[in-house]
Amino acid sequence: MPWRRMGLAAVRGIGLSGQMHGATLLDARDEVLRPCILWNDTRAHEEAAELDGDPMFRRVTGNIVFPGFTAPKLLWVERHEPALRAKVAKVLLPKDYLRLWLTGDHVAEMSDAAGTAWLDTGARDWSDDLLAATGLSRAEMPRLVEGSAVSGHLRDALAARWGLPGAVVVAGGGGDNAASGVGVGVVRAGEAFVSLGTSGVLFAANDGYQPDPATAVHTFCHALPGTWHQMGVILAATDALNWYARLVGADAATLTGELGALQAPGKTCFLPYLGGERTPLNSASVRGGFAGLEHATDRKAATRAVLEGVTFAIRDCRDALAATGTRIDHLLAVGGGSKSDYWLAAIATALDVPVSVPVAGDFGGAFGAARLALMAATGAGAEVATLPKISRVVMPDPALTAAFDTGHARFRAAQTALKDL
Ligand code: XUL
Repeated sequence: MPWRRMGLAAVRGIGLSGQMHGATLLDARDEVLRPCILWNDTRAHEEAAELDGDPMFRRVTGNIVFPGFTAPKLLWVERHEPALRAKVAKVLLPKDYLRLWLTGDHVAEMSDAAGTAWLDTGARDWSDDLLAATGLSRAEMPRLVEGSAVSGHLRDALAARWGLPGAVVVAGGGGDNAASGVGVGVVRAGEAFVSLGTSGVLFAANDGYQPDPATAVHTFCHALPGTWHQMGVILAATDALNWYARLVGADAATLTGELGALQAPGKTCFLPYLGGERTPLNSASVRGGFAGLEHATDRKAATRAVLEGVTFAIRDCRDALAATGTRIDHLLAVGGGSKSDYWLAAIATALDVPVSVPVAGDFGGAFGAARLALMAATGAGAEVATLPKISRVVMPDPALTAAFDTGHARFRAAQTALKDL
């Protein structure tokens, strides 16, 4: 039995983590009604602006209603696909659909639910008023649990198929970012990480609920009870690098591998807004660009510009978090982009903070989900969410600080020019 050889028979708990905000629409028989509308899909920008115009949304959720959040997508479906909307019996987030398959139960957890624009984020409960404002009620919503709590049990048929003898609990889990936070031990105030995945995220754990909905900072429940976190989110991090790699016909690792030691940003500047931006711009219509192209812009210079552009966008997130009073003194780096030393050195220098790289291993959302499973299966708590062993710390390069400040100022000027283009 391959499952036995893999040690699966010893499994006592399963945790879930997944991309956030997706509208997974089910009918009364739990059949999927349409392809999920994903986190980076901004088609619902008009509906988002409309909901955001009602002060109740920011007051209760602690966040701007971004086009990528779930609630505006339901309004969009109502307007553009009314026959389908009439059949919606349950709205799940992507990972919670997987839970339905694993357990047979409709359940969500707080960290992912906070990205719907239907959660009272401070009270950690659905808001009846926000649901009603989009024509919904609790009946269409999954039950809520904490990320480290038991959400249900693995169905007997699956347990038998996989050769799992005992009862297997399925933990609430977390949205990919909150689960990554648990995976790298970023669960207490003062701890923060940068995630260079498809999206780019600057994530800081908070002591309490500290919303600042006038800004494009996200304030969500963390995956552990009684904890919250803040994030700056950019829509394209490795997504921008991969776009550029396709454009020049090379793979991303080759492009970043040819760079050598960190250099001062040149005149060429890249803005990574390929599909709009969340923090700090909250704009579905802004688009990216290269600026300052010159004869000297060869492939390496353009690659550096792409990495710098994402880096400066993350610096904008740091500034947005700082404006709410959240200080970041050091960062852990996770996600596929953290394999590039050049990128980490650029981030360390542009943000003027040491960046720690965990020893080889996956400390992302999946590892955090496994820790949440351990908590749910054994009753353990936050003590499980330790910081990882660090393989190396990338320090800011003081000789290049001024050059990165100048590069960031150039990036901001290009951003202003592009915003209304
Ligand atoms: C966070 C966000 C992304 C997705 C995709 O708000 O939209 O990080 O979770 O991973």
